[in-house]
Amino acid sequence: MAAYVISLPALERNARILRETADAAGCRIVLALKGFSCWKAFDAIRPHLDGCCASGLWEGLLARDHFGKHIVTYSPGYTEDDIRQLCEFTHHLDFNSLSQWFRFREIVMAHPRFESGELLCGLRVNPQCSTGDTPLYDPCVAGSRLGITADQLEGADLTGLSGLHFHTLCEQNSDDLEKTLVAVEEKFGHLLRSPQFTYLNMGGGHWITKPFYDRERLIHLVKETRAKYDVEVWLEPGEAAAIHTGVLRSEVLDVFDSAGHKLVILDISATAHMPDVLEMPYRPDVFLVESSKGQVPSSNEEKQPAVTFEGERYVPGMEKSAILHRLGGPTCLAGDVTGDFAFPRALVPGDVLVFDDMAHYTMVKTTTFNGVKHPDIVLQHEDGTLETIREFSYPDFRDRLA
Ligand SMILES: Cc1ncc(COP(=O)(O)O)c(C=O)c1O
Repeated sequence: MAAYVISLPALERNARILRETADAAGCRIVLALKGFSCWKAFDAIRPHLDGCCASGLWEGLLARDHFGKHIVTYSPGYTEDDIRQLCEFTHHLDFNSLSQWFRFREIVMAHPRFESGELLCGLRVNPQCSTGDTPLYDPCVAGSRLGITADQLEGADLTGLSGLHFHTLCEQNSDDLEKTLVAVEEKFGHLLRSPQFTYLNMGGGHWITKPFYDRERLIHLVKETRAKYDVEVWLEPGEAAAIHTGVLRSEVLDVFDSAGHKLVILDISATAHMPDVLEMPYRPDVFLVESSKGQVPSSNEEKQPAVTFEGERYVPGMEKSAILHRLGGPTCLAGDVTGDFAFPRALVPGDVLVFDDMAHYTMVKTTTFNGVKHPDIVLQHEDGTLETIREFSYPDFRDRLA
């Protein structure tokens, strides 16, 4: 049975690291719901983070209803209805363009929450400083639609605004933030120095919970920024909150040979259930599940999936050697393939494979393309017990379109 299994203790571990970082730096850290919005798991995160980053009205409503605390909202485009509803509960409302701000500022500035200072507005800026390797994830590419460039702000009427927001990183270390902050100073330092601007949101993409991430440098940069501009600093990571907290378990439905390849059809799909594998693209870690009965438990040094069960042993899929399998999904898309992986033995129908690190940017993006059954969503509690929080059935597929 296909299932996303999310470890609550692992989520809490990440959230604690984020809290420690925020406390040391004197900034606020919120969970970017675009990366992880499995709200029944929020109890593990809520005590440690300052709130949520919403990508628009619906995530904002989810944050209000199931997380609470602070809500910071930014969308590349709002409707008037979005604005009217968001004004009721969001704390930051950041705009992607001057035209959107000019279009809606009267509505926002007339709202009692704006007048009382409970609702603050900001602009997303584009510091035009590319530091990543993947153009698909680079908001600073030439012609980017994300954020306002410094030349567009010259002479503009900025009355009513009190924050700036930039998001330029993706799975990056704090050295790239350092480079970005140099560009921010060069292009927007004069605004941040003016007393009108009271917050700076540094977006997401900070890989804070990765073991090699240089947290000390982040802490130093945030402190320096706060002191230089006298602003509140906000970070809104998604991936760092949910990294290495969940897996996607799947079953082998079929194995057959074709043109020299051992082809495997699984009950999960790259395009429907882990689309970043194809979009980014990247090669996830995969493990074959074997029974551990009578086996010496694997050493802690061996790579293990984010969620493990007693009685199971996890044999990593390798790039070469042994028996190479091409892992594919049950959809019609010819490229619905997660990759070629070798295992010490040939797979057979009924085998279970575990795809590692599948909590973030998976469940928020899934589809029922081809009517493929959506994997269950399961939480693993501190004591190892499992709680299935969502099972999907035919009506879920049918009712989405009418
Ligand atoms: C504006 C904004 N904030 C925050 C995030 C979260 O980024 P990440 O999950 O890489 O930390 C994103 C991701 O695309 C984003 O676009």
